[in-house]
Amino acid sequence: MDKEEKKVTMHIGQQGPAIEFPILQASHGADSIDISALYKTSGYFSYDPGFVSTSSCESNITFTDGKKGLLQYRGYPIEQLAERSNFSETAYLLYFGELPDRQQQSDFDQALSRHRTMDASVLRALQNVFPQDAHPMAMLMAAMSYLAARYHKEKDVYSAAYREKAMYRIVGKMASLSAWALCHRNQQAMAEADAQLSYSEYFLRMAFPQKASIKPSFIRAMDLILLLHADHEQNASTSTVRFSGSTETSPYAAVAAGIASLWGPAHGGANEAVVKMLGEIVSSGKPVEHYIELAKDKSAHFRLMGFGHRVYKNYDPRARIIRKTCYQLLSELEPENPNHPLLKAAMELESIALQDDYFIKRNLYPNVDFYSGIILSVINLPADMFTVIFSLARSIGWLSHWNEMMSNGQTRIYRPRQLHKGYKRRDYIAADER
Ligand code: SDX
Repeated sequence: MDKEEKKVTMHIGQQGPAIEFPILQASHGADSIDISALYKTSGYFSYDPGFVSTSSCESNITFTDGKKGLLQYRGYPIEQLAERSNFSETAYLLYFGELPDRQQQSDFDQALSRHRTMDASVLRALQNVFPQDAHPMAMLMAAMSYLAARYHKEKDVYSAAYREKAMYRIVGKMASLSAWALCHRNQQAMAEADAQLSYSEYFLRMAFPQKASIKPSFIRAMDLILLLHADHEQNASTSTVRFSGSTETSPYAAVAAGIASLWGPAHGGANEAVVKMLGEIVSSGKPVEHYIELAKDKSAHFRLMGFGHRVYKNYDPRARIIRKTCYQLLSELEPENPNHPLLKAAMELESIALQDDYFIKRNLYPNVDFYSGIILSVINLPADMFTVIFSLARSIGWLSHWNEMMSNGQTRIYRPRQLHKGYKRRDYIAADER
């Protein structure tokens, strides 16, 4: 591979012609070989199930380095943002590309506040459709579909102003919609909270209208969870939003697709799966070691939820940050808190897995979802609300990527090829001859 000339030469088979592909240089991390002309020049497709080695696009938003355990939003290390910024300022940074000055931040927060509420009659009508124990992620998807219908006529995806307004509406409304889903579960009337509250406190006050006050440590923990989950390169749900958005569909519809993708336990549903797994471990009465052994036994088809990551083959930097907050909240728990057994099992699981050769050899460390699931339990959110919190955080990431994709004027529709392994050709047989 001749990097100086920024190209790679490939020979198809022994006698095949030499075909050259340009190397696209990254500003940070791995360069990419541009194989977009591969089929045209060689008649071959590339094959990469799960896109383990495939860049789907160029992006300036987030950078991760799995080997070094790095995560940067617009170049700023996640550790510095977690320590010194907050979710709203980070959301501005992700979408607009630069940290805001005070006026820009104030305008941004005001715009989110203006778009926070949904028409109460619409929420009531939507609630009538869902049983009380409906999964809140399904309710979020339905609410996003309503917004797609409500704002369809003004769709203008190549207009920056249209895209910015859609971002304010979706990120603004996600806080009240997330609280609405929880209030539906608890059969509680929603109580409007002061729209001047910070994004995280506004959500918590809307989600727990019965509480006279929300512990400052819970507000700080929620803000940190939202900041850490705000974006993560081309993860499955962000890629889903890009895929959908590439057809020029409405951002509300593309975000509904992103919510659907995030819901899966292999992705954003992992935090809910962590707490479900911990509950099963505690109620089984079996030692934690039993589950560690189960996770190593392929025939058991059991994975330790909250462990492992496609990119991070070092510790997930978000997990390292959120672990401190997790332990700090645990130390505040009153002795009779019902979460204690779960949290004890989690700490045991963490300490055993971190010393076990199977996990060490495969670089399976606790990921961000392992700790966020525990924190959200302590904040008394039910397990099936955890992925809703992930959606609340990731909406700004989804819309930042969608905006980046649509802002270059003409977007190519995402349309992968396939390795066909089915029948070559066969002729129709009449029913009575089969
Ligand atoms: C998120 O992409 C993102 O950026 C996602 C995310 C984001 O911010 O958007 O970071 C959020 O989705 C975090 C990941 C949450 N998911 C989980 O915690 C679910 C449990 N983890 C796994 O299912 C798994 O680790 C994945 C899906 C996260 C990663 O899967 P990969 O990269 O495809 O890894 P793999 O399936 O190829 O596994 C490699 C090996 C295999 O063993 P061998 O075949 O080599 O013997 O590791 C084993 C796997 O069996 N393995 C596990 C395991 N995860 C992988 N074994 C036990 N428990 C696990 N959790």
